Order: sequence, then C-alpha cells, then structure tokens
Amino acid sequence: MNNPVFAANWKMNHGVADAQAFMRQFLAHYARAYDRSVMFFPSALTLHAVHAAVRERPDIKLGAQNIHWEDVGAFTGENSAAIARGAGARYTLVGHSERRHVFGETDEQAGKKVAAAFRGGLTPMLCVGEKLDERERGDTVAVVVRQLRAGMAHIEKAQVASCLVAYEPVWAIGTGKTATPADAASVHAAIRAELNALGGDRADSVPILYGGSVNRGNARALLDAPEVGGLLVGGASLDADGWAAICTT
Ligand code: 13P
Repeated sequence: MNNPVFAANWKMNHGVADAQAFMRQFLAHYARAYDRSVMFFPSALTLHAVHAAVRERPDIKLGAQNIHWEDVGAFTGENSAAIARGAGARYTLVGHSERRHVFGETDEQAGKKVAAAFRGGLTPMLCVGEKLDERERGDTVAVVVRQLRAGMAHIEKAQVASCLVAYEPVWAIGTGKTATPADAASVHAAIRAELNALGGDRADSVPILYGGSVNRGNARALLDAPEVGGLLVGGASLDADGWAAICTT
C-alpha cells in the first residue's frame, strides 16, 4: 500500500508529563518521512501538550479520540470538534469499539459525530468492526456495512472520499488475537466495495486501517495485505521506541 497511515490510539494512557517524555524520545528515533503518515490520538487533556511537542514536526498529525455530535452547548464532560481543533487536532476517531461497546454509543450517534467532525474542521476516522459472536454467526460483513452506512448517513456523497476508516474486529482489540492478513484483506475488500457504493470512485483513496493487537511482529504482514492502508494501534503505540519501530516498518 502506498503512503500507509500509522495511527497511535493512546486511549486512557499518557498524561502530559508522560506524553512529553514520549515525544522527545519518539522524535529522536523517527525521522520525517514522505512515504507514510504518522498520527497520534492522545487523551483530550493531553492533546494540547502533544501539539506543542510536535510544533517543529508538521509531518506528525494529531487527533481526538472522540467528539460530541453537537457543536456547542450544555454537555458536561464532552468536547466538540472545534474545541479539539483548537487544541491541535486535525482528525478524530469516531465510533471506536470502546465507545460503542463500553459506553453504549450507537450507529446513529457515530453518524452524527462524523458530520460534526467535518463541520468543526476535523477529518473523521470512522471505526467499524464485529464482535466475536457476530463473527461466529457469519455476520462480519453485514455488521461493518451497517456501521459504514450509518456512519456516513449524515454527510454528502463527496465527503465520503475525505474520511478515513479503521477496521478493528472487537475480538482482536487488546486480546493478543489478531486477524490474519487474509482475514483482514477480505473484510477490507468488503469495506472498499461499500465505500465505493456510498462515495463513488473517489472513495478508492480512503485509507482503510487495520487495528487489533498489532505489534512489531505482525505489522509488516498486515500492511502487505491487499486494501490495508495503515494500522491503528493501541497497546503497542505506548512505548516510544517500539512505536518508532512500527512506524518505520
Ligand atoms: P490494541 O492495539 O491494544 O489491540 O488496540 C487496538 C485499538 O483499539 C486501537 O484503536
């Protein structure tokens, strides 16, 4: 895949001091490269400090892990796309499996968040993926297609091509179980077909990242699978040297 995207989702890890130390070490080991993109999704409270830490490195992109679907208002504890942008984000995850399955976020809310991201000047990375029971019932493609349709329901057809998509099978997240490159390729092909149905030929350029127990040992094989346009990494992105090694895979 040309120009793969390496995205670190730090989840609820790395406060300001840890993130600053991480960035000093990471930037010392990761030289600017023009054939790939590197992206971080820190905690909302850490985003601004990470933004300052990468000021000299415009090649490093930042995103929020979550945004609210409204632009402003009485939503205690939430952040809008514009607030995230003001703190340095240019991207946001939407519908991460932990948002869906720990916090009960619905397909409909994910769709409203994708639209809110564009209104607030962020590029959404819509996350989709099936749970183990859904996979065992043979419903993987039906689930990801449903999530894609709902996720793109409130944007224009032309905006589909500006999104990123991450396929993260829920059973593979944080479990040490990874989809095989062949499994990932077959679901990514189904995602590509649906993106083309939703957004036309221009959606061919939408990177489809794979996520779920990616590590240094399996990163290359996953990236080499057809239609895998990058990696969305949790646990293995928390160590600066290890993450730099994955980003230079
Ligand atoms: P792990 O890499 O820890 O399995 O997490 C994957 C993930 O959820 C990234 O968004």
